[in-house]
Amino acid sequence: MKTVLITGCSSGYGLETARYFHAQGWSVIATMRHPREDVLPRSERLRVLPLDVTKPDSIAAALEASGPIDALVNNAGIGAIGAFEATPMRIAREVFETNTLGVMAMTQAVLPQLRRRRSGVVVNVTSSVTLAPMPLVAVYTASKMAVEGFTASLAFELEDLNVRVKLVEPGYCPTTGFARNAGPRIQEVAPEPYAPFAKRVLAAFTQQEVVTKESDVAEAVYRAANDTSGQLRFPAGPDAVAMAQSR
Ligand SMILES: NC(=O)c1ccc[n+]([C@@H]2O[C@H](COP(=O)([O-])OP(=O)(O)OC[C@H]3O[C@@H](n4cnc5c(N)ncnc54)[C@H](OP(=O)(O)O)[C@@H]3O)[C@@H](O)[C@H]2O)c1
Repeated sequence: MKTVLITGCSSGYGLETARYFHAQGWSVIATMRHPREDVLPRSERLRVLPLDVTKPDSIAAALEASGPIDALVNNAGIGAIGAFEATPMRIAREVFETNTLGVMAMTQAVLPQLRRRRSGVVVNVTSSVTLAPMPLVAVYTASKMAVEGFTASLAFELEDLNVRVKLVEPGYCPTTGFARNAGPRIQEVAPEPYAPFAKRVLAAFTQQEVVTKESDVAEAVYRAANDTSGQLRFPAGPDAVAMAQSR
């Protein structure tokens, strides 16, 4: 039986991905900053462990407690929206700390065991903002673009060691906790003179009809984790798939 460790399982894509891998018969280590057992099925194949990807001690403790794993899913992430000019550098650093350096730190911590066993996979969850640029998310996009470049390079580096590295690029999902969790980083979305433009952009955003479901992402992560064809990118959700096809 294979074991997957997933970051950011308290809600949204991570939670659904944990449920999906479990339903496929995998052993699942669902990690959360603040562990909650009640959101996942009770099972001998499912463990909830505390993990904050920005804290080296937390990463070490989670990997010590989890034992050997076959797959790491770097799903944890935070959003930020607003005109770049008005975005404090503190927020840019916070976003990179979780979305980019958190992915690198987790990957580096897991690689020795995968390299030694010459098997395993790391799946990094980015976003459809890497497929088609969107306004008002420059910092968030940069944090995810960095992961795209990081992953593409790493995939070559690990090929001979039989360790696979993959990207899942989800589209926009209004039902995860993403917008709510980004709240503290949306203090002043767009001060003058950006306000009228921002109003138009945000209105169009909320009217988007084709969106991604949590299950689209869970399925794509599962496909990516099991893929041996050499495919690097897995757009997830109909909006993301359409963007990838029109590139
Ligand atoms: N929803 C979308 O439209 C969308 C689109 C494209 C890509 N994505 C990406 O998909 C991933 C999942 O997002 P989601 O939409 O499912 O949002 P979500 O419901 O807010 O889930 C994000 C998860 O990341 C966790 N997290 C945040 N900071 C963390 C940290 N320092 N250490 C560990 N966990 C941390 C959150 O935990 P807490 O509960 O502790 O905050 C939460 O469990 C993210 O990488 C996001 O960038 C989302």
